[in-house]
Amino acid sequence: MLRRWSSLFLAAFTLVSVTACADTAAVTVSRGVVAAGSGMVVSAYPHASEAGADVLRAGGNAVDAAIATGLALAVTHPTAGNIGGGGFMVIRFPDGTSTAIDFREKAPLRAHPEMFLGEDGEYSYQIHHRSHLAVGVPGTVAGFALAHERYGGGEWEALVEPSVALARDGFEVSERLARSLAGRLEAFLDYPATHAQFSKDGEPYQPGEILVQSDLAATLERIRDQGRDGFYTGTTARLLAEEMVRGGGWITEEDLARYQAREREPVRGTYRGYDIISMPPPSSGGTALVQMLNVLEGYDVAAMGAGSPEYAHHLIESMRRAFRDRAMFLADPDFADVPVARLTSKEYANELRPTIQTDAASVSDPGDVETAASWESMETTHYSVVDGDGMAVSVTYTLEGGYGSYITVPGAGFLLNNEMGDFNGRPGLTAENGLIGTEANLARPEQRMLSSMTPTIVARDGELVAVIGSPGGRTIINTVLQLVVNLVDFGQSPEGVVAAKRLHHQWLPDAVRIEEGFMSEEDAAVLTAMGHEVNWSRGQGIAHCIFVDGATGTIVGVPDPRDSDGSAAGY
Ligand code: DON
Repeated sequence: MLRRWSSLFLAAFTLVSVTACADTAAVTVSRGVVAAGSGMVVSAYPHASEAGADVLRAGGNAVDAAIATGLALAVTHPTAGNIGGGGFMVIRFPDGTSTAIDFREKAPLRAHPEMFLGEDGEYSYQIHHRSHLAVGVPGTVAGFALAHERYGGGEWEALVEPSVALARDGFEVSERLARSLAGRLEAFLDYPATHAQFSKDGEPYQPGEILVQSDLAATLERIRDQGRDGFYTGTTARLLAEEMVRGGGWITEEDLARYQAREREPVRGTYRGYDIISMPPPSSGGTALVQMLNVLEGYDVAAMGAGSPEYAHHLIESMRRAFRDRAMFLADPDFADVPVARLTSKEYANELRPTIQTDAASVSDPGDVETAASWESMETTHYSVVDGDGMAVSVTYTLEGGYGSYITVPGAGFLLNNEMGDFNGRPGLTAENGLIGTEANLARPEQRMLSSMTPTIVARDGELVAVIGSPGGRTIINTVLQLVVNLVDFGQSPEGVVAAKRLHHQWLPDAVRIEEGFMSEEDAAVLTAMGHEVNWSRGQGIAHCIFVDGATGTIVGVPDPRDSDGSAAGY
């Protein structure tokens, strides 16, 4: 058991509880910060956090709770929660060892590097991102099944049942979900099964109304009763393959049967005495995170001060270099040699640091590699879990775009991802608005597409410190970077670490995007004078995190205030 919390630590932040039960051991669910002694889940929807915390309270471990939470999000948070997508899980065990589960989608067997070209032979954004060919072979159910088989403690059926109930009996639509669904309703008209599932006979759901998803409930029942086979074989697989044939996609029942999640060694680094445990390729997240932290370690960041032009400049220059290397080297390690050890070494950071001028911006040079110019949305989701034994689980998973491909499998009730869009568009393609032209991340049979998702765990002296992560495409890596710096260099409270404003630079386009409030306009003008192109953003990331007070063992769940539905559930 973790030790009890101290009043001193609690004084650092505000506690809010919306549904505390009379039973003192009951789960507290809150859209604000929750402190607890025995277990915690923080996710993008209250029902999902509660489902996970209930599993913990019933004796399940953090992996069990992560599975229950992930499946509940597939029902309650359809924009990103999923069984038709994929993602990553980083696990740290109470003895300090760690592992990672890779359930990233794969390209189907028919895939090839030129599959996103139109009939005219030109690259087609539409095919790449919004078609049946944009759908990767889903990995979520296989990932959860693998995590459960190796590290779970509870009965699989009990972990799936809460999501079955949420889909079958329905749940209250929040204001955020109502707004989100209303905004997509017209686009869903082209996808009849999606339009039917997410509207009331064509009318938008209002906040507080009950959303029932019967086909999804039936699919989840098959997963509950048959485990991964309930998704990758039989009825579910047949329905998915039939939809592919109908829409010109390439995923077959064979692709589904062959899909395997992988257990991988996490990327590990250190930052000023803290241990960083994060996701290895096929995510670029952990590698770029450790690379940037190594560069920043050579500067007195605390003395620069949060929000100062000096700090922003060094942050940007670290990001510029890591994102250049990301574009050049990162891909599925089963298909490419990725130099993770070199990129994450202190020696490499020592080579990079002298290339950073203290008072002038570098220039991003595309050379023969360019990268996408688009800014990223928040249509992924991250959640964090800690159990009473100190086992920690960090999960980021996604459908890629909001509601993925928009394709709901008719009769099976779940949305399919459009993750194939994370492969490079075609060999050698470079464009002004930019796409990466490197070989390593091209679509090939059964290859996984490069990701930026960065589920991360921070420890120190053998003790768990934090479970962190975020959605936001490429901004994810920079959001997680700043969570670590806020914690380690600026010594912010748990609430402050998450609430603090962030910035993002991704090498190309050569511009920084600064969340309003990160710094004053006068300080931003100093950056401009150094040669940085400055843009402002209204929000970056949604980091649903957990922190553990080393002195007392108190577990503090901190939903990101940028998300009105983000919720902590602890007991
Ligand atoms: O794997 C990735 O990095 C992306 N598919 C995640 C997408 C995301 O965060 C939503 N924003 N574009």
